[in-house]
Amino acid sequence: MEIKGAVALVTGGANGLGLAIATFLSEQGAHVVVGDLDEDALSGLGGEFDHHVLDVTCPDNVTKVVNDIVKKHGRIDILVNNAGVIFNEPLVNIMNPEGMIHDYTRFRNSIAVNLDSVFLMTGAVVEHMIKGRTKGCIVNISSISARGNEGQTAYSAAKSGVNAMTVTWSKELGRMGIRCNAIAPGFINTGSTNSALTETTINHIVANTPVRRLGEAKEVAQAVVSVISNDFINGTILEVNGGITI
Ligand SMILES: NC(=O)c1ccc[n+]([C@@H]2O[C@H](COP(=O)([O-])OP(=O)(O)OC[C@H]3O[C@@H](n4cnc5c(N)ncnc54)[C@H](O)[C@@H]3O)[C@@H](O)[C@H]2O)c1
Repeated sequence: MEIKGAVALVTGGANGLGLAIATFLSEQGAHVVVGDLDEDALSGLGGEFDHHVLDVTCPDNVTKVVNDIVKKHGRIDILVNNAGVIFNEPLVNIMNPEGMIHDYTRFRNSIAVNLDSVFLMTGAVVEHMIKGRTKGCIVNISSISARGNEGQTAYSAAKSGVNAMTVTWSKELGRMGIRCNAIAPGFINTGSTNSALTETTINHIVANTPVRRLGEAKEVAQAVVSVISNDFINGTILEVNGGITI
């Protein structure tokens, strides 16, 4: 797909990886629209991107924002499902006898923001792609945790579900000219990584990563652009992790 001139919606694009993806797509000539819950960060973007307050877990809000974007820009060619929240909680915490087992509400909340959101956003955008005969591209931001990561029951389950939906949609939508791929970042040098992990854990990760460093947000953005640009890449889960396996 030609990125220059394409209309790209990046969810969670006001911070972190989403902002890096939005910026890189814009540098390649895309018309970038950012949807995010964080109103302060959105206003900090200034006039760089068209932006909308969006809660990717709320079906009515998703439909309204997607309809508004299509009304304004005519279509959406690229959807990057990036919005998500890293969440750590093991199934069993023996240090907390009162609440030893993973809280169910927190499990559901993590699934809502990391998995349901991708379902809701993709359904709303693909409906317009099909009706407008747009040869579009969906890119889901998964995670290395989709392999199953100790201490991340809900987050791992959600990202594994994202991978499964990616492959399923690549098969269902390919014949309509819509491709679907995922990027599975490993440990990236972002604010969310640095607040989710201790310095000791980060040092351990770096020591066990063949390239001996965390990834950079721009390297994830470059992977997003690669799968969009190459029209024969479909149904791929592209790992961007410096060679680490967990
Ligand atoms: N940082 C990493 O190392 C890493 C590694 C693997 C995967 N990921 C994935 O990359 C994506 C971005 O992560 P990040 O590290 O940049 O996190 P981040 O917290 O810096 O950014 C996430 C963005 O999503 C937005 N968001 C959260 N809930 C939302 C909602 N309900 N509706 C709309 N927007 C919402 C936040 O406001 C924020 O702008 C996530 O899906 C995360 O799971 C990150």
